[in-house]
Amino acid sequence: MKAIIYTKYGPPDVAELKEVARPIVKENEILVKVYSSTVNRTDAGFRSAEYFISRFWTGLFRPKYQILGCEFSGIIEDIGPGVKTFKKGDSVFGFNDKTLGGHGEYLTIAETDAVTTIPDGLSFDEAAAISEGGHYALVDIRAAKVQPGQHVLVNGATGAIGSAAVQLLKHFGAIVTAVCNTKNVDLVRNLGADTVIDYQKEDFTKTGLKFDFIFDAVGKSSFGQCKPLLTDNGIYISTELGKNGENILFALTSRIFGGKKLLFPLPSITKTDVIFLKELVQKGEYKPVIDRRYNLNQIVEAYKYVETGQKTGNVVLKIVE
Ligand SMILES: NC(=O)c1ccc[n+]([C@@H]2O[C@H](COP(=O)([O-])OP(=O)(O)OC[C@H]3O[C@@H](n4cnc5c(N)ncnc54)[C@H](OP(=O)(O)O)[C@@H]3O)[C@@H](O)[C@H]2O)c1
Repeated sequence: MKAIIYTKYGPPDVAELKEVARPIVKENEILVKVYSSTVNRTDAGFRSAEYFISRFWTGLFRPKYQILGCEFSGIIEDIGPGVKTFKKGDSVFGFNDKTLGGHGEYLTIAETDAVTTIPDGLSFDEAAAISEGGHYALVDIRAAKVQPGQHVLVNGATGAIGSAAVQLLKHFGAIVTAVCNTKNVDLVRNLGADTVIDYQKEDFTKTGLKFDFIFDAVGKSSFGQCKPLLTDNGIYISTELGKNGENILFALTSRIFGGKKLLFPLPSITKTDVIFLKELVQKGEYKPVIDRRYNLNQIVEAYKYVETGQKTGNVVLKIVE
């Protein structure tokens, strides 16, 4: 089968299109013929190993799993003898952060992992883009224990995580202020934001507004800058480590002292989470934003675009044209 493989950590051009053996299902696994995947910041982070810590998951000296692509959608082509909840021909989507593989024509995943059927009427491209931004946003919103009526600010509301966060926060009943650039003000309003701050015209940290939760989905602010905007027991979460990894330190010290807190939840995803996201899609409460589409031959270009930090929502990798 065709797949994008990388045998060493590094810049986008370590990713190459090659012919490799098709995976074979084990007892409790399904074999998915992949139609669409995404190229996202998780794939880029694993590939570059920019943060050394990621190697504890992907291999200390070289990649343990050579085909990246944590998000996928496609059709089940084979099932292991122990599989009970799926059948051949089912259209499925999911997130495989254990063995990855979305950037190849076929992948295997355990039936109990983060995989479920695609809602009716949803394209493979849209289904592939449901879970990366969706589950990072979900983990952080749950950690902040957001309650209906609370005021929440999302910085970077146009990223994969930010665009999902705005929609999920509305589902949880929050009053959302979203920060984005001028060209995306309408998009972010359509995602459900109650108030939009255009960061090209106004610095949200200088507005004097108060929030129960500030979610910096692009990690461009600091706890210090945002503290004055937090209510007495307000929560700050960033998707980045912060200057010199300060967010890890603040997360530890915040546990000791009361009042305003920085949390740094570790992301995780289960089957229950992808089913939760799917049900929101079915109810019309969540729709992944798609920016560009690339094919397998354009993988280097796709990575370079994703790494500009300027994509709007998700970048789809088309495995089947
Ligand atoms: N290391 C990992 O494994 C990993 C995994 C997932 C996510 N993350 C981190 O999570 C963050 C978000 O990822 P993502 O995929 O959701 O983001 P993304 O898609 O890369 O989003 C970037 C978006 O943020 C906007 N933006 C850039 N600078 C901004 C600023 N100063 N204020 C407000 N908006 C700004 C950009 O809009 P413009 O057009 O205005 O620039 C763009 O739409 C990234 O920092 C990423 O590194 C890390």
